[in-house]
Amino acid sequence: MDKKITIAIDGHSSCGKSTMAKDLAREIGYIYIDSGAMYRCCTLFALDNSLIAPDGTIDTATLEARMPEIQVSFKFNPETRRPDTYLNNELVEDRIRTMEVSSHVSPIAALPFVRAAMTAQQQAMGREGGIVMDGRDIGTAVFPDAELKIFVTASDEIRAQRRYDELIAKGQPADFDDVLANLRERDRIDSTRAVAPLRQAPDALVLDNSHLTIPEQKQWLIERFKEKTKTLPPPSL
Ligand code: DC
Repeated sequence: MDKKITIAIDGHSSCGKSTMAKDLAREIGYIYIDSGAMYRCCTLFALDNSLIAPDGTIDTATLEARMPEIQVSFKFNPETRRPDTYLNNELVEDRIRTMEVSSHVSPIAALPFVRAAMTAQQQAMGREGGIVMDGRDIGTAVFPDAELKIFVTASDEIRAQRRYDELIAKGQPADFDDVLANLRERDRIDSTRAVAPLRQAPDALVLDNSHLTIPEQKQWLIERFKEKTKTLPPPSL
């Protein structure tokens, strides 16, 4: 049997990373982990427990003390054929994708104790390889030894349009300018934070998918996977 590798897919907000990553994982029989969903769960937990004031101030002392209460898991949904996100065994897939969570998630994801807890959970999930994980720091901090690293990007406007269409399709209220502003602000915070900022790993392959269709980017990624697994030494017995 071929050795199962680790695949890290990083990039800017709403650039279609998760669609690519999910499609690839399904195609090659790997586990898909959406690390952004884990930071979204931490944000939902903070909102549900009134740890974020209306002015955005975070009660960091209480959140840090309560971090052990945050357990994120993923369960395969046979209907959508994609994994759903659970926070402490409660299905939160829709609740973590609202604009309210999106507008608070970057400051939460910048907190070192939140990153430490989520990174440890992610590394435990990927210990055996055979995983496709997407996020901001997967190829740089979570799995620096990943065999295949991809850095995805697309123009701001195209990314905002995709996100806006997604929210409208789900029947959630959305304003294009708000979505664009939120996405730029998240990119700014994600790229400038002190711990594990969004950065392209030196050994990552770059994909600008501004003008690619979903099937085209899927094809591109499968070719990169095949190239990589072809060049790997055979697994030791
Ligand atoms: O991919 P996403 O939009 O669902 O990610 C939500 C937020 O989580 C995003 O603003 C940055 C943060 N994030 C992170 O800091 N590190 C990751 N590995 C994944 C996401």
